[in-house]
Amino acid sequence: MKIGQALNLRGETDSYERQEAVWLLEHVLNLNAIELKMRQMQVLTHEQEQVFLDGLMRLSKGEPLAYITGSQPFWSLDLTVTSDTLVPRPDTEILVETVLSLDLPFQTSMVDLGTGTGAIALSLAKERPDWKVLATDIYFPTLEVAQGNAHKHSLNQVEFICSAWFEAIPAQKFDLIVSNPPYIDADDAHMDNLGTEPRRALVAEQQGLADLQIIIDQAPSWLNSNGWLVLEHGYDQSEAVRQLLQKRGFVQIQTRKDYGGNDRISLGQHLLR
Ligand SMILES: C[S@@+](CC[C@H](N)C(=O)[O-])C[C@H]1O[C@@H](n2cnc3c(N)ncnc32)[C@H](O)[C@@H]1O
Repeated sequence: MKIGQALNLRGETDSYERQEAVWLLEHVLNLNAIELKMRQMQVLTHEQEQVFLDGLMRLSKGEPLAYITGSQPFWSLDLTVTSDTLVPRPDTEILVETVLSLDLPFQTSMVDLGTGTGAIALSLAKERPDWKVLATDIYFPTLEVAQGNAHKHSLNQVEFICSAWFEAIPAQKFDLIVSNPPYIDADDAHMDNLGTEPRRALVAEQQGLADLQIIIDQAPSWLNSNGWLVLEHGYDQSEAVRQLLQKRGFVQIQTRKDYGGNDRISLGQHLLR
């Protein structure tokens, strides 16, 4: 099979399905987009063809491309992704952008709760090399992937702790707490398309609000005065999250929208009274 023929096997021209097939073939052949375009007549080896067809089959069963290629771009980083991690989403980059827009100390001390691949913690560590960055996750194999990503990008200043939210973190105060916790209700229709990603990364009780509530309740004890809590949440949860922040005494409460125009990030500042 030639490259040109292989690319016709999935989706209409210019469709997202076709683009995914292009990315998959770039990965299988270790070529970039331009090289692939220039070599439409090149014949795939038997092994390349088998790996490509197997990848197409996995895509058609709903598996994310990142699990097949083993990596996902996020912010300025190429992150290793495994079945132990959530695939980082472009909308989470809004959380990184939001944090970078805040007035924070030069040597901010921060924690990313539920770091997954390390997407948020490592992007911020890359942008702000003087920050003291801690990243946690409840699941040790996930944390190992995040640690591997830190080494891959020489972000060796980032520290990692296996912890259920704040439980195993040594007593200290942060200038910034960030989290993209599980926030989907178990009965949400979106779960039908998310079956290949770890449930522990996605689902929370109380209509998806249980983990957000734990973090909001506990965060003030871990924040310096003027410190910020920045949270990702579901498109329909911003009002509930703002209310929880207000009840816990946060000020300057705001919500930011994602690339699709949905409420996605809410934040508040903690003031010592
Ligand atoms: C939605 S994923 C976010 C991953 C990553 N921060 C990102 O934005 O791509 C939620 C993460 O929280 C972790 N997690 C779930 N429950 C947790 C808990 N009780 N304590 C700490 N981490 C938890 C999961 O293992 C998962 O990696």
